[in-house]
Amino acid sequence: MEIIRTPRIMKETSKRLLTQGKTLGLVPTMGALHGGHLFLFKVAKGENDVVVASIFVNPAQFGPSEDFDKYPKDLESDIMKLESAGADILFVPEVPAMYPEGFSTYIGVRGLSDRLCGAFRPGHFEGVATVVCKFFNLALPTRAYFGQKDFQQAQIIKRMTKDLNMSVECITCATVRENDGLAMSSRNRYLSPEEREAAAVVYKSLKSAAHMVKDGVMPASVTEHMNVMLKSEPLVSEVQYAGVYNPETFEESVLPEKKYLLAVAVKMGNTRLIDNILVEI
Ligand code: PAF
Repeated sequence: MEIIRTPRIMKETSKRLLTQGKTLGLVPTMGALHGGHLFLFKVAKGENDVVVASIFVNPAQFGPSEDFDKYPKDLESDIMKLESAGADILFVPEVPAMYPEGFSTYIGVRGLSDRLCGAFRPGHFEGVATVVCKFFNLALPTRAYFGQKDFQQAQIIKRMTKDLNMSVECITCATVRENDGLAMSSRNRYLSPEEREAAAVVYKSLKSAAHMVKDGVMPASVTEHMNVMLKSEPLVSEVQYAGVYNPETFEESVLPEKKYLLAVAVKMGNTRLIDNILVEI
């Protein structure tokens, strides 16, 4: 696997590969790789000639009181995982190379960015859209891969590529789960053993909500049920949102619809966990 550290070399390499007629699959990550990321590499590998991984903990998407400084970093072990996942190129730039002095352009995807996670993490999606746009301009991918656990992020990126006439195809891949249903996430490692066990309630609440909507229960009652279930777990310190939403607009569903996004964001101690499932009736 070739390791590239500078934006200039990344862009030159991608241009050369595209001239040779290769297709490029990009998997953007912040490192601390887990089974969810490895699944993205597996899908990317099957659909592209060359797979590029990026590892960059993007300061622009963290709020002042968030975990940027202590975000888990384990480059050596990530490199080993990427080698065995068959990634061809790793792009691992430093912060000053991505945000040089004078950097002042940010991408805002209005509406979609303000709801759900956006309401609790102001500026987060602006940071995500900006860095992903930069990665697209540097790695020039044919396709890019994102996990469904971050469904709102994936939809915002798709909206950005459509609105800005970008030619990359964005693909959302299924969430990979632990045996008890907990969605794999780099932040799961912050959980104490007791919190880790209790965290299974997040997926349980989604599954139970899915049964209810399929049985025709009205969205408001399903939302209430999810909140009661999550709040009855003593180690859940905050329910930021839990409910039934329109998967296109992220507005709360009031009336029966054909498709629902069931989504949750909770805090267990200082650890924020998100998860969702899509249900089609
Ligand atoms: O999902 C992530 O890991 C990040 O938000 C992303 C897409 C790599 C942008 O920094």
